[in-house]
Amino acid sequence: MLRRLHLDQPADFAFTPDNLAWAQAQITKYPEGREASAIIPLLWRAQEQEGWLTRPAIEGVAQMLGLAYMRALEVASFYFMFQLQPVGSVAHIQVCGTTSCMICGAEDLVAVCKEKIAANAHEVSADGKFSWEEVECLGSCSNAPMAQIGKDYYEDLTAAKMGELIDALGRGEVPLPGPQNGRYAAEPLKGLTSLTEMDSGKHQFNASVQLAHDIGDTVKRIDGTEVPLLAPWGQGAPTSGIKPASPVPSAKKAAPAKKASGAKPSAKKPADKTGVTKQAAKATSAAKPAGKSNPAMTPATAAAEAKPRTMKAPRKSGADDLKRISGVGPKLEITLNEMGFWHFDQIAKWGAGEIAWVDSRLKFKGRIERDDWISQAAALASES
Ligand code: FES
Repeated sequence: MLRRLHLDQPADFAFTPDNLAWAQAQITKYPEGREASAIIPLLWRAQEQEGWLTRPAIEGVAQMLGLAYMRALEVASFYFMFQLQPVGSVAHIQVCGTTSCMICGAEDLVAVCKEKIAANAHEVSADGKFSWEEVECLGSCSNAPMAQIGKDYYEDLTAAKMGELIDALGRGEVPLPGPQNGRYAAEPLKGLTSLTEMDSGKHQFNASVQLAHDIGDTVKRIDGTEVPLLAPWGQGAPTSGIKPASPVPSAKKAAPAKKASGAKPSAKKPADKTGVTKQAAKATSAAKPAGKSNPAMTPATAAAEAKPRTMKAPRKSGADDLKRISGVGPKLEITLNEMGFWHFDQIAKWGAGEIAWVDSRLKFKGRIERDDWISQAAALASES
């Protein structure tokens, strides 16, 4: 299958504010100079927000990561999980067609999709609500045949059950994912034959189904308010400096704000009147949105900038090895030297204004406070 950008592209793309905060926090996971490693999660979040990966979204992510657009396009077009064409506004159904599922009836499931959705994979149904495709093993072989609908797995399917699921989704319902034949998880259909004591630890649903039930985002387009923003790797992820906050217009001229032939849900709105509205309301009340009120996301450069004292060259005793500060790599050390910082005691003296001044000149913001350079530099300066 050729993986190309769709001919009809929307005019622009922008992350919702909560998705932008999430994306910025993801970038801080990676070490200096390796921020481009965040490309897959960012592209994925763009797709979760829009339903499919548009050209302006790929361009926007490339811009955030300081990557050439071509590099981002290479990733987007390589991985089949990225949808490069519009998908159904309610759900994109991915039927596993690999060995276990094929033996257990995947072809019948595909036949139902052809009948109820569209004759060809990746074709949006006449009502715009659904699309489908056959995919490789989704790792749920013991519950074959199965399909991923939206974000969740529907397992132990039959053709009849698949038809019912599509009908229910079309009516606006979101059927509970997981095994569809009464199984709890992947145990024998008639119950456990070993480790039977595990039966007593059962909850109403297995862990994966319970999450889908609680978060309620199975077919919802993600706007970032679904679950609290957690960035445990970076105790205080930065929000400033990494753009774009404004829409990224498509480089392609055509497309005057044209909605591609599928759905183009807007921020904070459900993909469709059907089903998703209820879910969104539930998810929003169940999970406290992080957004801007999260203190961990307070911009690091809120203070007014004040230029620190700089030096033209290191002292005669020689420059300190600034790489001893956790978070400062070889590239960043050169940058700091070029700015006029050679010694730990220089950095240890920075106040909020000086931090803001230096931070605004770094490519990726927030590292000074996140890694607490000042305390580190003070400790290192006292050693020498
Ligand atoms: S073969 Fe279908 S999930 Fe593995």
